Amino acid sequence: MSPSRLQFQLDAQASGSRARATTFRTLHGTIQSPLFMPVGTQATVKAQTQETLHESGSQILLANTYHLLLRPGPEVFKKLGGIHKFMRWPGSVLTDSGGYQIFSLPHSREMTEKGAVFQSYVDGQRILLSPELSIQMQRAIGSDIMMVLDQCIPSTADEQAASAALQITRRWAARSLAAREDSPQSMFGIVQGALYPQLRRESAEGLMELDFDGFAIGGLAVGEEKNEREDVCELTAALLPSDRPRYLMGVGTPLDVLEAVHRGVDMFDCIIPTQVAKRGTAFTSRGIVELRRSVYKFSEDRLDPSCTCPVCATHTRAYLHHLTKTQEPLGWTLVGQHNIHFYHQLMREVRQSILEDRFLPLYKERREILPIEDV
Ligand code: GUN
Ligand code: ZN
Repeated sequence: MSPSRLQFQLDAQASGSRARATTFRTLHGTIQSPLFMPVGTQATVKAQTQETLHESGSQILLANTYHLLLRPGPEVFKKLGGIHKFMRWPGSVLTDSGGYQIFSLPHSREMTEKGAVFQSYVDGQRILLSPELSIQMQRAIGSDIMMVLDQCIPSTADEQAASAALQITRRWAARSLAAREDSPQSMFGIVQGALYPQLRRESAEGLMELDFDGFAIGGLAVGEEKNEREDVCELTAALLPSDRPRYLMGVGTPLDVLEAVHRGVDMFDCIIPTQVAKRGTAFTSRGIVELRRSVYKFSEDRLDPSCTCPVCATHTRAYLHHLTKTQEPLGWTLVGQHNIHFYHQLMREVRQSILEDRFLPLYKERREILPIEDV
């Protein structure tokens, strides 16, 4: 493999754990891992402003090729100079390829060797999302890290279906890489293979023959048990090169993220912190707080007394309870801002503990106190 265009650097490796701290450079700046990427599907992290994202320490946002292809479409990005300028986001952006969105489409879709045919939810048009179209769109968006178009299937799929999906993912990965041409953007391959160790190995080895700047673990958090997810994550991360970033796609709760860091993963994205904020669910150092509950009606307490975010510095639980009960947009915004801060703060503490080689005790302690309730 050629040297990574991300100038990847391993800062520290924890003792008694596969956890590691890394630094790499995208076209828009330096990134330090382990890290969490807030999800900005439509070139916006739901109910958040770019300013608060930046202040909370977001280094890189995730955007979705599938949605942005349908609306506003590639011409807007080409004409206006890419997503960073469009949304005035100075940090980095990673674009998912559309592979996962096609998989989760409620309507009929058709998979062929060429790509996935689906019907646009905007105007009903039939679109062939091929690896070439996905990469063309990701080039128009101008993300720092592009993802290959892959075939994500339920993790409970039988071995034959899982094998077919990883074969096609391997061929689409090569086509995605070819479609990058002379773009300076980085590209990650995506390992599939459901819950079958030998298929995960086959998928990882096939992708490692290609010159990717990093590797993602896909096809998880799609129907399996927590322990199954952790086993596959551990096994797959161990197969991947140690000199490239490792990204676990679509995972998870703060505890899921901590478990995956312990197993050697560097990067995460998940809609949970912003999604649950809408109904007033907050992650705190003492567990989950459901702000809808009437016990908070008169509470002058901070949301989380140990949190350093602006929401906790300013507002009472009573006010956040009121905003949640009345479904005021500001409630979603403020709880989301706190939740994103909570994820980033966890990641910063985890990174610091790895650098000081005390990750293992931190992991054991946090594992006991991080919320495990279903969110
Ligand atoms: N997001 C969560 N899981 C996946 C996956 O397997 N593939 C892609 N492209 N995105 C994902
Ligand atoms: Zn807070």
